[in-house]
Amino acid sequence: MRNLNSEEIVDICKQYNFWTWAAQKNVELMPVTDSKGVYFWDEGGKRYLDFNSMVMCVNAGHGNEYLKNAICEQVQRLPYAGPHMATQPRAILGELLEKITPDSIHHFLFTLGGAEANENAIKLARAVTGRHKILAGYRSYHGATAGAIALTGDPRRLAWEPNLMGGVVHFNGPYLYRNPFHSEPGKETEDYINHLEEIIQFEGPSTIAGIILETVIGTNGILIPPDGYLHGVREICTHYGIQYIADEVMTGFGRTGKWFAVNHWDVQPDIMTMAKGLTSGYAPLGAVGMSDEIVDFFRSKSYQSGLTYNGHPISLAAAIANIEVLENENLIEASFERGKTLSTALKKLYEKHACIGDTRSLGLLGGIELVKNRETKEPLAPYNASSKEMQFIHSRCMAKGLYVSIHWHIILIIPPLIITDEELLEGLHIIDEILNEVDRMI
Ligand SMILES: Cc1ncc(COP(=O)(O)O)c(C=O)c1O
Repeated sequence: MRNLNSEEIVDICKQYNFWTWAAQKNVELMPVTDSKGVYFWDEGGKRYLDFNSMVMCVNAGHGNEYLKNAICEQVQRLPYAGPHMATQPRAILGELLEKITPDSIHHFLFTLGGAEANENAIKLARAVTGRHKILAGYRSYHGATAGAIALTGDPRRLAWEPNLMGGVVHFNGPYLYRNPFHSEPGKETEDYINHLEEIIQFEGPSTIAGIILETVIGTNGILIPPDGYLHGVREICTHYGIQYIADEVMTGFGRTGKWFAVNHWDVQPDIMTMAKGLTSGYAPLGAVGMSDEIVDFFRSKSYQSGLTYNGHPISLAAAIANIEVLENENLIEASFERGKTLSTALKKLYEKHACIGDTRSLGLLGGIELVKNRETKEPLAPYNASSKEMQFIHSRCMAKGLYVSIHWHIILIIPPLIITDEELLEGLHIIDEILNEVDRMI
């Protein structure tokens, strides 16, 4: 491969690539040249503290030597094998995943990412139940492929209406800061479960194949369900014979301080989708974990679906090494511990800044919800839009070397799990300084 300078990289990328989530002429590209630990560097040598784990995926941190070597070894040994071939990485990863996933999950179908995993989850739920509807939450993101975008309960879906996959019905999942039911304290779980039960009655329980839920809502604002909610969903699913699909694409592999977010409430889904932290982004991979019941259904019936790269050995080897890193470096526990630091620091920021309406976190999945006014809770940017204040925050973060994702009026905090308390506080200090300026703007 020939060497290009940063200008050439950007110019040629712009010429030949087609970009997602942006108008082609507006796309801003950052020529990244190096990454290590919780940092990455651009071509000019500027260092960024990565508060978004690139795309919420680099759980094990950047430039991990063990992971890199495992991938290189697999390339040398067997760089590709077909979807019906038994390989060593396929055997070992299956065994590992079975151990770390909830007790209800025993078998795995490998895909290339989260959206493909959710596509297969929809098919499985529909096949085993013989029903067609899927219930999904508003304020959710499940991927950009045809079925997954139909599940998505945020405006990313709207561009593709009305030609979406049919049969998806959305409902309100828990958002305690902006609870539409105005529940009495302690009654939130009951109100949200009653709402779901009502939707099920309206839609007809015998038409519903599955309920898909991000266990903690990710990009749409780090929305943590109240205790009892997921158990309530599980009970409803069991009662009506509906498949409970947990989307753990963002929340899996230690992100929330446990292997999977469902572990916080000890909930047993029928289907669980994973991606991102499964390989810490070192190779593309998704997976659909499923119960015995689903596999039994297909014992003597063909599953009409397939992928050329189902079980790509390089991705599987990356996942195995990644899980070993998470285990050997105690990164699940680290996420739990750093999560306490994050939660305490977020509370302090809330006390200090008038522009903060709410802060939420579980492990190293955190969010700061910004408002113009604490009394009215008016968001600092309207729904599905930005504002001068939010743009200011983003550009100031980037100028100060903090790489952070901002979704409308919410700052997301999703760093690699190897982050130290000092590095975490270093990033939060930058946000603190910027919010001092925002307080004066509102
Ligand atoms: C919760 C959730 N599900 C699914 C997806 C889709 O994953 P992918 O981009 O790998 O297709 C994402 C991606 O951000 C996600 O956050």
